[in-house]
Amino acid sequence: MTEPSKIRSFDVAPLIGTAVEADIETLLSGDHAAELRELLERRGVLVFPRLHMSKEQQLAFSATLGEVLIQGSKQVLNISLDKNENKGAEYLADYFKGSFFWHIDQTSEDSPCRASLLGARNLSDVGGETEFANTYAAWDALPESEQRTYEGLRVVHSLEAAQLYITPEPTVAEMEGWRKIPTKVHPLVWTHESGRKSLVLGSTASHIEGRDLSEGRMILTRLREWATQPQFVYQHRWTLGDLVIWDNTGTMHRALPYPFDSGRLMTRTTLKGEEVLA
Ligand code: OGA
Ligand code: MN
Repeated sequence: MTEPSKIRSFDVAPLIGTAVEADIETLLSGDHAAELRELLERRGVLVFPRLHMSKEQQLAFSATLGEVLIQGSKQVLNISLDKNENKGAEYLADYFKGSFFWHIDQTSEDSPCRASLLGARNLSDVGGETEFANTYAAWDALPESEQRTYEGLRVVHSLEAAQLYITPEPTVAEMEGWRKIPTKVHPLVWTHESGRKSLVLGSTASHIEGRDLSEGRMILTRLREWATQPQFVYQHRWTLGDLVIWDNTGTMHRALPYPFDSGRLMTRTTLKGEEVLA
């Protein structure tokens, strides 16, 4: 009889992030998929140090965890700021610069993606760490009186709000391009099917519906500042071959700036949203 395959895990910070040690074969077997999904939902981020999966393996592993999204005809996307890496889709490099600011992916959708996996193929000599903030933990830690004032608020999300961070003086054509993606209104507090609650914030959050603009923007700023305090944040300093998964429904993330020509190259696979943000 063969031994059941084993994985070992340990928390990297009290409120976010767990490192998982397992070999590629064990992960590809799918035997631990349910356990890993549960761990991801509870811990926000899973780190597999120096795993060195090939792109094909990353895709196969992703498929054990959920339905892999097709993004612009690909299931495995190269994340790079280098225009040569994004041939035929040079605008993507500008788009990825948006990742330098705290955000949640796919807030333009009713059901933002469940999770993404990033595999480190090439690193920048400087910068390029990825930070994650646990938006469940941030909600849980808010004083109850404050929680009561936020519940029920609705936030308008737009690509324009996020792109203004990197292009603060856009052309009309740029603005028109961003506006092709319709705005989306989401609750500020996501009540998940599990009953847990998380904050929905980030660079796409433009303003609070029905509130005075400056008042609404102050609330969003207050909450971003709150949710990105050190106790809610895990910063991943990449080593070649690392694989990191984040729960996009219960965390925000950002990349720390790195030079556009640094050669940093990540491969990303993304799991389809499973729950309407409500
Ligand atoms: C992303 C993203 C951050 C990084 O892929 O959605 O924000 O560190 N990436 O590359
Ligand atoms: Mn992102």
